[in-house]
Amino acid sequence: MSTFWSIWVSVIVLGTVFGCWWLLLATRKSQTTDAETERTTGHSFDGIEEYDNPLPKWWFYLYVATCIFALGYLALYPGLGNYKGLLNWTSTNQWEAEVAAADEKYGEIYAQYGQTPVPELATNDDALKIGQRLFANNCSVCHGSAARGQVGFPNLTDDDWLWGGSPDAILETLHNGRKGNMPAKGVMPNMTNEQVDQVVNYVLSFSGREKDAAAAKLVKPYSPRAALPATAQTLRACKPWVHRI
Ligand code: HEC
Repeated sequence: MSTFWSIWVSVIVLGTVFGCWWLLLATRKSQTTDAETERTTGHSFDGIEEYDNPLPKWWFYLYVATCIFALGYLALYPGLGNYKGLLNWTSTNQWEAEVAAADEKYGEIYAQYGQTPVPELATNDDALKIGQRLFANNCSVCHGSAARGQVGFPNLTDDDWLWGGSPDAILETLHNGRKGNMPAKGVMPNMTNEQVDQVVNYVLSFSGREKDAAAAKLVKPYSPRAALPATAQTLRACKPWVHRI
C-alpha cells in the first residue's frame, strides 16, 4: 500500500481509538459528582425521567481496558497501514507454520501409505477413513458425496470406466487429470462437408437458431452403425453414448 494510504488508514484507526477515549472523558467531565444522586437530566419522556448519574465504575474501566487492548493489539499485529507489528505476524507465515506442524504429524503416516500398494491400502480402515474425508473435501463437489456422479461428472461406483478402473489407471487419473475430448466429426471421420453443414443446422435448431431448416431435417438421428469405422480414441471418447445404445 502506498505511503498515502498507509497514513490514511493509520489516522482513521488511531483516530477512532483515541476518539472513543476522548468521548468517554469528555462526557465524564460534565459530571459534578462521583456519587449516585437523585438529580435528573431534566428530560421527561412519557413521564419517565432520566437520571444524571456517573457511569458505573466497572463499565468505565472496561471501556478504558478496551481502548488499551486495542492499542496493544495494534502494536503487536499489523493494523496500521504498512506497519508490520512487533510479532511480524502474517496469515501466510501462520499458514506455513500450520502446514509444517501437520507435515510433521502426518508426514510419516502418508510416507508409509505411499509405499503400500493400493489394493492393500483398500483393506486398511484408517487409510479408508482418511480417503473418505479427502474425497468429501476435494472430490464430492463434482462426483457427489456418494460418488454416484451427476450430469457431466462420471459415476465412480459402477463398473463403467472412461479411463480405466484399475488402481494404476485411477492413480494416473488423479496424478495427471483426464481431458475428455470431442473428436472432429464425432464418430464419423469420413463425414462430408455437406453433412457437416447439415449437422450444424440441426444443432442450431436445438436452440431455435437454425439457419437452414431444410438442411437440419436431413440429419438422421445418431446410428450406432456410423460408429463402426471410428478409431479407438473416438470410441473411448464416446463410450457413455455407445453404452446406451
Ligand atoms: C471440478 C470437478 C471435479 C473434481 C473436483 C474431481 N473430479 Fe474426478 N472427474 C471430473 C470429470 C469431469 C471427469 C471426467 C473426465 C473426462 O472424462 O475427461 C472425472 C473423472 C474422474 C475419474 C475417471 C472416471 C472414469 O470413468 O474413468 C476418476 C477416478 C475421478 N474423476 C476421481 C476423482 C477424485 C478421486 C477426485 C478428488 C481427488 C476427483 N475426481 C475430483 C470432475 C471432477
